[in-house]
Amino acid sequence: MASILSILASPYGAASRGATLAAQAAANLQAADPSLALVERDLSTLARSVIPSSYADAVLARQPSEHAAFDLSETLIREVEDAAFITIATPMHNYTVPASLKLWIDLVLRHSRSFAPVNGVKTGLLGDRPVLVVVTSGGAVTGKEAGQPDHLTGYLTDVLSTIGISDVRFIYLEGLVNPVQAGIAMAAGARAMLQDPVFAGRQGGESAMAHAVNG
Ligand SMILES: Cc1cc2nc3c(=O)[nH]c(=O)nc-3n(C[C@H](O)[C@H](O)[C@H](O)COP(=O)(O)O)c2cc1C
Repeated sequence: MASILSILASPYGAASRGATLAAQAAANLQAADPSLALVERDLSTLARSVIPSSYADAVLARQPSEHAAFDLSETLIREVEDAAFITIATPMHNYTVPASLKLWIDLVLRHSRSFAPVNGVKTGLLGDRPVLVVVTSGGAVTGKEAGQPDHLTGYLTDVLSTIGISDVRFIYLEGLVNPVQAGIAMAAGARAMLQDPVFAGRQGGESAMAHAVNG
C-alpha cells in the first residue's frame, strides 16, 4: 500500500507549526486518494542519540544491510522507499537542520544502500517522489529581510538529491518569533501549499499510482 511519510523534526513534534501545515498537506493527499496510509516519523525520539561507533564501523566496513548495526537505518530507509509522498516539517536551528534531522540524514544516506558512486559521482538508489519541506524559523530566512545565512535549503536539497529525490518544494513559515508575523506567515504558507498541484491534493491519485507502478 502506498504511503505518505511525515517526518517531524521539531522538538515540539506534531504540535509544531510546521507540522500543522504538513498535516494539512497529508490530509489533502488522502482526500484525493483515501488508500494512502499516513506513516509518522517523529524525530524527537532520536534527538537524544548520536551515531554509535558500531554504525560507523559497519558503514566504513561496507557491511551488508542485514548487519544488526543497520537495523534503525534500514527501518528509516524502508519508510522512504514505501512512501509515495514525503513531508518534512523542520525548524531552522542555527542556520541549518536540527540535530535530530541530521541524525536521520546520517542513518538514511548509506553507501551502497541509498546511494552509490557512478563514475565517481554519488548517485541515488531510491526512486524520486514528491517531497514537501516546511521550514519554520524565528527570524526571516528568505528575501531582503533575511539577516542570517540559510544553510538548510541547499543542504537538504543536496541530501535528498544524493538518494535520488529531486522533486522537492520548500515552504517557509518565517518570522515566527513575532506573533503578528506568525499569523501572516501561517496564512501565506497555507496559500502557497494550495498553489502546489501535488500537495494541494490535485494530483494525489496520479502520483500514488505512478509510485505504485514505478516503485
Ligand atoms: C536551538 C535553536 C536554534 C534556533 N536557530 C534559529 C536560527 O538559526 N534562525 C531562526 O530564524 N530561528 C532559529 N530558531 C527558532 C526556531 O526556528 C523556531 O522557534 C521554530 O522554527 C518554531 O517553529 P515550530 O513551531 O515549527 O517548532 C532556533 C530555535 C532553537 C530552539
